[in-house]
Amino acid sequence: MNSTKKVSSKRNKRLLAAAGKAMKQAYAPYSQFRVGAAMLTAKGEVFSGCNVENASYGLSNCAERTAIFAAIAKSGPGLNIRAIAVVNDQGVPCSPCGACRQVIYEFGPDATVYFQAARGWKESHITELLPEGFRLK
Ligand code: THU
Repeated sequence: MNSTKKVSSKRNKRLLAAAGKAMKQAYAPYSQFRVGAAMLTAKGEVFSGCNVENASYGLSNCAERTAIFAAIAKSGPGLNIRAIAVVNDQGVPCSPCGACRQVIYEFGPDATVYFQAARGWKESHITELLPEGFRLK
């Protein structure tokens, strides 16, 4: 899918709804920036997560990684991410941070990422967002 093309699929709508619900659980007292993420796995399951901040700011966890870690905790290490969507409570552009891109890539080397970009919603392949992602094998 061309990254500049706007997309509005049934799958994305479903993921946005789940991400929005998860966003309401965010713990973001320091940034006041609530984020939710939801992903569809190859098995057809949907998992979601929110950002969880900490007084020691660097320990904060993004919504994307919370969703991924929750999926593994629930269904085990065989996670294969097909698509992941990200929303925030301020309606501003928000693409996954570099750390989350690497974590998405670990479990979704062919994942589609749906996020709000500078010019509207965008669907990008993870390798567009993270060229030359790191792999041990
Ligand atoms: N954040 C996410 O959860 N996901 C993103 O894609 C961007 C940033 C969180 C981290 C922190 O809790 C807050 O947003 C402000 O950076």
